Amino acid sequence: MSLRCAVAGLNRGAGFVRRFNANPHCEVVAVCDPRREKLAEQTEAEGFEDFARMLEKVAPDIVAIITPGPLHAPQSIAAMEAGAHVLVETPNVYSVEEAQAVVAAARRHDRKYMLSEDYIYMGWCVRLSEYIEDGALGEIIGGMAEYTHDCRPARPLTAVDETQAQAWRFTDLPPLAYSSHTLGPLLYLMDDRCVTVTGIAGGRREIAGVDVFPLETAILETEGGRTINLTNGFMLSHPFIWLAALYGTEGSVRVINTDYRDPDALQVLVSTDDDPQWRDWPMEWHTCDDDADHTQVLVNDFVDSVLIDSPPPFDEARSMDFCLPGVLAHESAREGGVKLEVPLF
Ligand SMILES: NC(=O)c1ccc[n+]([C@@H]2O[C@H](COP(=O)([O-])OP(=O)(O)OC[C@H]3O[C@@H](n4cnc5c(N)ncnc54)[C@H](O)[C@@H]3O)[C@@H](O)[C@H]2O)c1
Repeated sequence: MSLRCAVAGLNRGAGFVRRFNANPHCEVVAVCDPRREKLAEQTEAEGFEDFARMLEKVAPDIVAIITPGPLHAPQSIAAMEAGAHVLVETPNVYSVEEAQAVVAAARRHDRKYMLSEDYIYMGWCVRLSEYIEDGALGEIIGGMAEYTHDCRPARPLTAVDETQAQAWRFTDLPPLAYSSHTLGPLLYLMDDRCVTVTGIAGGRREIAGVDVFPLETAILETEGGRTINLTNGFMLSHPFIWLAALYGTEGSVRVINTDYRDPDALQVLVSTDDDPQWRDWPMEWHTCDDDADHTQVLVNDFVDSVLIDSPPPFDEARSMDFCLPGVLAHESAREGGVKLEVPLF
């Protein structure tokens, strides 16, 4: 069986064209981007500048939505209403109302909907989940994470930047809305979900001509009685850094990544009661089996769920678990740090 796939948003999305075509059950028949030069790079698929027109004309089985964040929820709903299954980049929603509408559309139309949260598919996360399952850290009692870097525009924003659908790097979008790369792996490794969130943001500042909250922190309580604290900021004066910690009753782990393009820049440090000092995991534990491209594995898993009609690895409810608490953290911060409940789906 060959699934007819479409990819919207052809910057990062170009990699998804390649990965869907690399799956033996898929063919990318359509691509969508308002930028004609991006469409011109994809010679094998029919190009569309307009998303609704693409859905109407092609009626794809699967749509990968790799467009700027604020378009994700409306495009996901439109795609599912048109009968397609949806794989969507992070952040998948920016409000509780969007989350409710996306979940309702997935269920009403009986479509697979999955957040493309690739960090969970990275080699270290897969191995860490096996390590935790084996009980090496005892019971996990909490976690923390920071994801901060310098996305300041190198030049003042032009009207084109702003109208080009709110390019995610250069906006005043709340930093904690982009939290699935940290919260996703933590919740996955804890097998848990957040039930409350309290957010704190320092004041807004104008940085590089953009009016932003440069730094936000959230404290989250989980269903399993754990605590998580998250800090995000994307207009800061240092290069990419992503770090996460899990605290267990018999050991702890720290994962630190200082360059997302370089696997050697990742460190996994473990300490256990049996060996109470920080040990660096061997490099071969950082990568996927057979050195596989982790995002290809994610795409293949999603395709399998469509082919055999089983729930995707992160269904519509789980996808919301990874993004919505961060969105609510921003709401909480705006309300002066009031504790908010995270809705159940
Ligand atoms: N998982 C990760 O590690 C990771 C890394 C980078 C980006 N992302 C996410 O991927 C998404 C895309 O990131 P990017 O870096 O490619 O962003 P980008 O802003 O550079 O590119 C987005 C593309 O979408 C196109 N576009 C704009 N409006 C459109 C529309 N209505 N229909 C179709 N296409 C449209 C733009 O022309 C552009 O080519 C973002 O949501 C971002 O948060 C995830």
